[in-house]
Amino acid sequence: MEGSAYLLPEPTHDTSMTEVERGTPMGELLRRYWHPVGLTADAGPTPKKVTILGEELILFRDGQGRVGLIYPRCCHRGTTLYYGKVEDDGIRCCYHGWQFDVEGRCLDMPVEPEGGGNFKRKVRQPWYPVEERYGLIFAYMGPPDKKPLLPRYAIFEELEEGELVDADDSSLGSGGDVVAPCNWLQHFENVMDPFHVVVLHDGFSGTQFVEPMGIMPEVTYENFEHGVRSFQVRTLDDGRTLRRITETVLPTLRIVASPVLTPGRCGFIGWTLPVDSTHYRIYTAARVTKKGALVKNRSKPGGKLWFDMTEEEHQKYPGDWEAQVGQGPISYHSEEHLGVSDKGIIMLRKMFNEQLAAITAGEDPINTARTEDENYVTSQSGNWFEDVAAE
Ligand code: FES
Ligand SMILES: [Fe+2]
Repeated sequence: MEGSAYLLPEPTHDTSMTEVERGTPMGELLRRYWHPVGLTADAGPTPKKVTILGEELILFRDGQGRVGLIYPRCCHRGTTLYYGKVEDDGIRCCYHGWQFDVEGRCLDMPVEPEGGGNFKRKVRQPWYPVEERYGLIFAYMGPPDKKPLLPRYAIFEELEEGELVDADDSSLGSGGDVVAPCNWLQHFENVMDPFHVVVLHDGFSGTQFVEPMGIMPEVTYENFEHGVRSFQVRTLDDGRTLRRITETVLPTLRIVASPVLTPGRCGFIGWTLPVDSTHYRIYTAARVTKKGALVKNRSKPGGKLWFDMTEEEHQKYPGDWEAQVGQGPISYHSEEHLGVSDKGIIMLRKMFNEQLAAITAGEDPINTARTEDENYVTSQSGNWFEDVAAE
């Protein structure tokens, strides 16, 4: 009975790498960074519920155009500001009308003497700082004295003529629904797994990208100043060489050039946002020449959009979503057997462990710039074809 499932020990996951709630090791590491919480258009005059890193929050934009991200329970007697009214200078609670600005200052208490007088200066609705960039709203949910600058990315700062930056919230690149029911790390570490492309996206499910992606690549990896990158070299049938570079930038950025092999440098960044410990979604920004062009990049396993597939088709043409959600809400690390082909994942996990150790030691983790000079992330990701025969 060697290998009997009856003999399996109780499975466990690595809690320090996966769980994102406040007070957990990874939750605290992730809280040292800015995360996308919505598209620019998501913050408006109607309060919107968002869940980020396991925290439920309310997003809105006041009449003066300022974005607010606040704790939902009103600091008076706790009803939710989801039912609040957004006004010119803040949001007003539905229950007794306390009004707060985007930084949680109480501006008015209409049923208290003198509109709250001094009392209103003694309360503060809990809030988080936000900034808008690249069509996205970013929030910083960590210790106030550790807030880094919101990063700038060369991909979006060095535009060519006619290009603009567009953003998308439909989890492009996950292959499935907008909020995927599994841990964020399952998706993020997949970026450093170039071998699954040959199996899952080609041999197993038929060509999900383009044919050259089905050729077994020679792969090397390196740590670089912002994360881990892989170099994938493929010899094409026509004798040319395809060099593809893919990057993970800590904590959650996937810089993955077009899998349909558009030549040149990568024009996308995807942020793998942990909604909570067992759900993630992806926000994407990209250089495009036309607004709205981004969403056309949605993959079509088996020629159909994921939403339109039958259960049978999901089994016949699984993609990233099926494989990663198939690992369970949080994958059991105790049951893994990592091989040589998992080197990129091992390097990425090691880099995360180093950052967890850094914050425990009171140091700043990677990619937390404090001066504008240091606040610039460049990328080598892209696809390059070399015509070896012509040399
Ligand atoms: S509970 Fe919000 S004003 Fe009373
Ligand atoms: Fe994939």
